[in-house]
Amino acid sequence: MKIAVAGGTGLVGRFAVTAAEGQGHEVLVLSRGTGIDLTSGEGVMEALTGVDVVIDVTNTAAVSSESARKFFATVTDNLLRAEAATGVKHHVALSIVGIDKIDDGYYAGKLAQEQTIAQGTVPYTIVRATQFHEFATQQMGRIPGPIALLPRCLMRPVSAREVGRYLLDIAEGEPRRRAQDLVGPRNEVLADLARKQVSFDGVKKLVLEFPLPGIFGRGLASGDLRGGGETLVGETTFDDWLGSQDRHIKPIS
Ligand SMILES: NC(=O)c1ccc[n+]([C@@H]2O[C@H](COP(=O)([O-])OP(=O)(O)OC[C@H]3O[C@@H](n4cnc5c(N)ncnc54)[C@H](OP(=O)(O)O)[C@@H]3O)[C@@H](O)[C@H]2O)c1
Repeated sequence: MKIAVAGGTGLVGRFAVTAAEGQGHEVLVLSRGTGIDLTSGEGVMEALTGVDVVIDVTNTAAVSSESARKFFATVTDNLLRAEAATGVKHHVALSIVGIDKIDDGYYAGKLAQEQTIAQGTVPYTIVRATQFHEFATQQMGRIPGPIALLPRCLMRPVSAREVGRYLLDIAEGEPRRRAQDLVGPRNEVLADLARKQVSFDGVKKLVLEFPLPGIFGRGLASGDLRGGGETLVGETTFDDWLGSQDRHIKPIS
């Protein structure tokens, strides 16, 4: 099978690429680093010629609803248009567990992505996962200095490696619109994970938690991001991951 991984140089993308190569698939990586800017769409059609499945794990640092919606809708639209023209049989996209009621900020972009896919003509599967174990480091990376003020966030972090493997499993199967959600093995709280991370990295940083107001903040604190019901549960806990080889992003400074 020829599989294109849009965002294949990113955190989860690299795991999806490794998983696909490990199964003997031909893999094509689409990213600005490999010469394809999916917000412009230039060159995407040529790149997708002969591709069977696209796995979309692109990402943006945008935090406003408007910018996040614009990024995810534009990238998805450009991919789907090229996929329809070149005969791609399956579009697989990674989204986030529990965002249905959090139509704000970054999550508004993810909802726009899901809607764009569902309204398109390419057979698809939307895969939702919880936050990766790297989430605490990512959030602290946005806050330089000795104090990290983090929003109250109830989560259930999952291994990005396991998500990458799951994306490949889905890509190898038939399109099914929505796959089972993949969540981590334990309920956690963002600030607790950040404190463990800081201690592990040997960094002097005081982690404080506050209730972020608004739809986005209430969503983070609601527990919705932990998912519920019939889900697949990953194996790697945050503590397992912290001491493992899977830590792809640099320790916080
Ligand atoms: N982080 C989490 O906790 C989490 C949890 C669940 C789901 N997700 C979802 O997983 C996806 C991937 O997240 P991640 O943390 O792995 O992302 P990431 O590490 O930030 O990687 C993003 C990837 O997208 C590519 N990219 C960005 N802008 C692009 C553009 N204009 N054109 C082409 N490629 C572009 C990047 O490559 P270049 O910079 O070279 O372009 C990179 O390969 C996201 O959609 C996110 O919503 C994340």
